[in-house]
Amino acid sequence: MHALRCLAGNWIQIPIPRASAAGGATRRRLSYVLGIETSCDDTGIAIVDTAGRVRANVLDSQQEFHTRYGGIIPPRAQDLHRARIESAYQRCLAEAQLQPEDLAAIAVTTRPGLPLSLLVGLRFARHLARRLQKPLLPVHHMEAHALQARMEHKEICFPFLCLLASGGHCQLVVVHGPGRLTLLGQTLDDAPGEAFDKIGRRLRLHILPEYRLWNGGRAIEHAARLASDPLAYDFPLPLAQQRNCSFSFAGIKNNSFRAIRRRELSERTPPDGVISNYGDFCAGLLRAVSRHLMHRTQRAIEYCLLPQLRLFGDAPPTLVMSGGVANNDAIYANIAHLAEQYGCRSYRPSKRYCSDNGVMIAWHGVEQLLQDKQGSLRFDYDSIDIQGSAGFAECHEEAVQAAAIKCKWIQPLG
Ligand code: KG4
Ligand code: ZN
Repeated sequence: MHALRCLAGNWIQIPIPRASAAGGATRRRLSYVLGIETSCDDTGIAIVDTAGRVRANVLDSQQEFHTRYGGIIPPRAQDLHRARIESAYQRCLAEAQLQPEDLAAIAVTTRPGLPLSLLVGLRFARHLARRLQKPLLPVHHMEAHALQARMEHKEICFPFLCLLASGGHCQLVVVHGPGRLTLLGQTLDDAPGEAFDKIGRRLRLHILPEYRLWNGGRAIEHAARLASDPLAYDFPLPLAQQRNCSFSFAGIKNNSFRAIRRRELSERTPPDGVISNYGDFCAGLLRAVSRHLMHRTQRAIEYCLLPQLRLFGDAPPTLVMSGGVANNDAIYANIAHLAEQYGCRSYRPSKRYCSDNGVMIAWHGVEQLLQDKQGSLRFDYDSIDIQGSAGFAECHEEAVQAAAIKCKWIQPLG
């Protein structure tokens, strides 16, 4: 069997690696990787083969439960993962029509995430690995988001620039391979998804029946399409004076709270009501978040293209956006538009893989095997542990700041 691999910009066929099981007792073809994701409030289990074909994808969301309580309660998230993980695994095997023995390795999110949630996935993975005598592949959740687009778009070569925007993170990274990411900038406070969730809650969008079970970001995206006066609300641009790739969403969030309060007072919105022009508000909010994401990403592109750095090397300049916020069509359209102005190709994973899922964890496992089979397969189960927070291999934040790139801003669409 062969898989495609990108070498110096060319796709070549490589033999799919073989793995030796514990103690070298048996030898098995490495063809199916199980992925286990429990870093937050989704129990995701999937099986992906080494060519990137998804054999099964099971996702048990806790959204409905947490929506009722206004946010994630870690011990309850842990209980729900515990209660659901075995059955999700069984459903995944059944959907894939595979036996446990067919699995070549078990990839599991070990970092970053909610420690109580991560523990459930890791313990389950260890238990399976012992029982089946299979190797483990520990996975960095944000790296998995960053690499996911390569599963569906085989033409994406290393290195590429990636904007990671989710409920817990906002980061710009250069991706050279699994375990080989360089941080250019990250949020100083809230993540954009977190801001959307909190603002959506404050707006009380969840009391509108159509948004009852939606996350804040999705509801705000939908509501923004209903705007009759999309320019009615404006928000100051964060970090306008800082020539780096940092992000900040706390100012936009606090301004939002104040604007909602003002409107509620002026039109006497009842305590269980939503301001009448919530669509206009959401359109203004999306525009502000898009502009901020565009600005920081534009500087990151220019940094990668600096002639003395040439961070894209000989690969075609490529920008990937990933994480839950990449679901947002308006935001992604702006990011793609920005990339185009620099001759940069742009990608995002399919929507079902932008948010947390088991496929991205399994695919990260495959990427590890393709990069370094021997180095990545782990049988020292007990020495693998979880990490609530985790950075990347390299950090260029100071170098970006020192470069102090002044950009001529690309304007958002529409
Ligand atoms: O990557 P993800 O599934 O989980 C984390 O690792 O955080 O991202 C979840 C976040 C949520 O905060 C949610 O509000 C946001 O992604 N999100 C969106 C959209 N769909 C999900 N944000 C904006 N527009 C969307 N359509
Ligand atoms: Zn995520």
